[in-house]
Amino acid sequence: MTVFQVVQVTDTHLSRNRGYFYDNWRVFLADMRANPPDLIVHSGDLSLRGTDDSDDLAFARAELDKLPCPVLVMPGNHDIGDTPPDARLQRPLSDERRRNWRSFVGPEWDYRDLGAGESGWRIVGVNAQLFDSGFADEAEQLAWLEEVFASSAGRNLALFLHKPLFYAASDEPALGLSCLFPMGRAKLLALCRSHGVQLIGSGHLHVYRAFAEDGMQMVWAPATAFINSKEKSLPPVEGLQRRAGYVRYRLDGSSATHEFIEPDLFLSLDVRNWSRATGSTVYLPPKPLAHAEILS
Ligand SMILES: [Fe+2]
Ligand SMILES: [Fe+2]
Repeated sequence: MTVFQVVQVTDTHLSRNRGYFYDNWRVFLADMRANPPDLIVHSGDLSLRGTDDSDDLAFARAELDKLPCPVLVMPGNHDIGDTPPDARLQRPLSDERRRNWRSFVGPEWDYRDLGAGESGWRIVGVNAQLFDSGFADEAEQLAWLEEVFASSAGRNLALFLHKPLFYAASDEPALGLSCLFPMGRAKLLALCRSHGVQLIGSGHLHVYRAFAEDGMQMVWAPATAFINSKEKSLPPVEGLQRRAGYVRYRLDGSSATHEFIEPDLFLSLDVRNWSRATGSTVYLPPKPLAHAEILS
């Protein structure tokens, strides 16, 4: 039986003009080149401020193209804006931002198949910010997802999206922009349950956590870019690890296991001072990467 290796990387926050978070990315790229998986999933916040600067998206796409294996990438709030009205960063999802993502990076939702039949896997990525956004194609994405789940021909199913579905409980009210809002979450959870989705991987919170919900494995992948220690008003949950890293999955038949990887050369960059001073890493001043720093 074939065993598939899938790596989930997230929240890389790449930018040529604000190159604060390139060091861990270089280490990640070297790790992938030394030990390439069958697929790399990037669960969004690929860029630092793709919402304002298309060059962040172009630069990040060029970085993804350096990876030695197929990549499935989906947008995060730093790439295309957050679910409207985006009370936090005032960068709501817009047609223009979504168009930029599609022209510089790729589709907003997509999937890859690994193998076939009962030992195969269908790995699906969707646009988390589109849920409860009011955009016309929110329904289109959901219909596409249902079709992709239904046509998996017996493959096991894994879903990735930028935001976790919920924080502490699947019936909790909206907790700001940290997770999906309740309506979209309920629709997505019902769809995942009815199709037997085994694994849901997300990013966005810049922490690692893994737990089971109703037979589904929920994995919050840690960021490569930075950790944010500023306390948010979120309910306490068990097993949070606030460190930089990435996740390596082993898909063996219908079993999915994973490991939280912290490469020796990774730094868990704590940006709480920057966040206190500016409100968000989005407002960091320019710090262009020197040409020699960019890995070829
Ligand atoms: Fe992020
Ligand atoms: Fe995010």
